[in-house]
Amino acid sequence: MLSRLRNRVAARHLLWKSRRAYVVETRTGPLLVLPGVLDPVATKVGAWLGETMRGVVKPGEHWLDMGCGTGVVGLAMAGAGARVTCADIDPNCVANARANAALRRVDLDARLSDLFGAVGPAHGVVYNAPFWPGEGAGEPFGRAMYAGKAFEAIRRYREEAAAAGVGRVLLALSEAGRDHAGARAAFGASRLTHRERVGGEWLVILEAE
Ligand SMILES: C[S@@+](CC[C@H](N)C(=O)[O-])C[C@H]1O[C@@H](n2cnc3c(N)ncnc32)[C@H](O)[C@@H]1O
Repeated sequence: MLSRLRNRVAARHLLWKSRRAYVVETRTGPLLVLPGVLDPVATKVGAWLGETMRGVVKPGEHWLDMGCGTGVVGLAMAGAGARVTCADIDPNCVANARANAALRRVDLDARLSDLFGAVGPAHGVVYNAPFWPGEGAGEPFGRAMYAGKAFEAIRRYREEAAAAGVGRVLLALSEAGRDHAGARAAFGASRLTHRERVGGEWLVILEAE
């Protein structure tokens, strides 16, 4: 309850911050956050997911960072030796991931793609997906935060990953998200691979079964 209220206040703060570009520090290195792109440190999940995925990917494997935003997760996986393709439906995010890859001198392919429209197959895919129920059209972070009334964004992700020929399909969620159980159910049969408390919030990674 408290963490949901905290998240609402944080979302307002993020909207205000997102009018300019700035740099945040993560354990995997500094990251540029362009205007309108989600800050992976303030929202917790992205920065945590990047760190965690370093222990999941194996050198030489090809992984997709779906909904890459700043590229925080893809850059971390590339740093662990994986070949990475970043994908996002928002051109600002693709530009942001490319800029961060150039700043860190990391070789990474970032593409404009509506889910798997322009990417796949791969060993695995990981998505810090929009996980709030509802429609976000017109809001600056709408597409980044809202999954649709019945979590259509998460359902589509699961269906399209299978069709795209991706081996491992991972989804990151915060248990502080509104209707966490609904988001999890929309993903379908899965097992919990990671669960950690970060800044007062339980964050999880689910792997499709
Ligand atoms: C919660 S944000 C995560 C951003 C980043 N990965 C991170 O962890 O900070 C979700 C991202 O998914 C992207 N997105 C939303 N719908 C998408 C779609 N249909 N295809 C690809 N990306 C999408 C948004 O633009 C946003 O960058």
